Amino acid sequence: MRQNQRASITGIGSYLPGKVLTNYDLEKMVDTSDDWIIQRTGIKERRIVENGQITSDLATQASLKAMEDAGVYPHDLDMIITSTITPDHFFPSTSCFVQQKLGATRAGAFDILAACAGFIYAISVGQSFVNSGAMETVLVIGAECLSTITDFTDRTTCVLFGDGAGAVIIQKSSAKHEILSTSLAADGSQADVLIMPGGGAKTPASVESVQQRTHYIHFRGKEVFKLAINNITSMILETVNKNGLTIEDIDLIIPHQSNLRIIEATMEKLGLPMEKAFVNIDKYGNTSSASIPIAIDEARKEGRLSKGDLVMLVAFGGGLTWGSSVIRW
Ligand code: UT7
Repeated sequence: MRQNQRASITGIGSYLPGKVLTNYDLEKMVDTSDDWIIQRTGIKERRIVENGQITSDLATQASLKAMEDAGVYPHDLDMIITSTITPDHFFPSTSCFVQQKLGATRAGAFDILAACAGFIYAISVGQSFVNSGAMETVLVIGAECLSTITDFTDRTTCVLFGDGAGAVIIQKSSAKHEILSTSLAADGSQADVLIMPGGGAKTPASVESVQQRTHYIHFRGKEVFKLAINNITSMILETVNKNGLTIEDIDLIIPHQSNLRIIEATMEKLGLPMEKAFVNIDKYGNTSSASIPIAIDEARKEGRLSKGDLVMLVAFGGGLTWGSSVIRW
C-alpha cells in the first residue's frame, strides 16, 4: 500500500529561543527607531540565543517536537538534513551534531546551504529520497543563529534578523500533507548582493578580515528587495501552472519572512488579498531558512490550515536562490 503513497509532511515542530530583542532595545544600540523598523520591515521584535545556545540546540528542540508530532523515534530516522547559514562549525555538519543530540544512530546526516531558500531546497531533497523509495523517514530542519553573524553596529542590517528553528518529518503517507511539487532556482551572477564575505577560502579569517567586519551579513538591501518580489512572483505563477492550478486555487501562501513590504508587494502583484498570506515577521524578524518551518507550525496552530487546502511555500535569498513547494494539506 505504501507504494502508492507520496512523500508527505507527517510531523512539524518549531523552537524559538526565549530572549526577546525589541525595536526599543535596538534604539539603544544604533541610530534607529521603532517607527522606522515597523514602517520599513513590519518587524517589532525578534528572538536571540543566549547562555551558549547554538544552532544544533535550536535544531534539536524543533526536531524533537516534529518527531513527537509524527510519532517517530530517533532510531526511525534514515536521514537528517539541516538547512543553515549559521552552522555550529564550518565542518562537521550541524546535522551530525543534531544526530548525536537526538541519539539517531541509524541516520545519515548532512547540511544544505541555500541561504533563505534553503528549507525549500532541503524539502526537495527529502521528498526525493522518500519518493524514490531510498528512505522511509527523513528529518528536514531549518535552523539559524543569525545573531552570530549580524553586525549590531550596522543599523541597515541588524534590525532585520533573528534566531530560531523549525523541522518537519517527511514520510510516505496518504493521510497527511502531500508534497505535490517543489521548484528550485538560482542566479549566481548576483551572488554579491547578499553575502558574508569573510571566513571562506577567498577571505580566510585574519586580523584584517575581522577588523574590516567581513564576518557579518552584508547586502545591498534595495536590490535584494526588488529581485525578491519579481522572482517570488514569477515562481509562484510558474508553480501554479506546473501543477495545473490557478492562483485562486491556492488557499494559503507561506512566504519566507524577509520583509512585510516584500510580502505585501508580492500579494498585490498576484492580485491576492493579504489574508491569503501567513505573516509572523512582527515577532521573529527574518530567521533565514528557519522562517518557513516556523511559519508552517504557527499557521497550523492558529487554525489557518484545513484538510485539503493547497498551501504554497515560497522563499528567496542569498545565492541568489529561490524556490517554492505546493502541499495538499
Ligand atoms: O531574506 C533575504 C534577505 N533580506 C534582505 O536582504 C533585505 C531586503 N531589503 C530590505 O528589506 C530593505 O531594503 C531594507 C529594510 C533593508 C531597507 O529598507 P529601504 O526602504 O530599502 O530603506 P533604504 O535602504 O532606502 O534607506 C532609507 C533611509 C536611508 O536614509 P537616507 O539616505 O534616506 O537619509 C537609510 O540610511 O533609511 C535609513 N536607514 C535607517 N533609518 C533608521 C536605513 N536603516 C535604518 C534604520 N533605522 N535601521
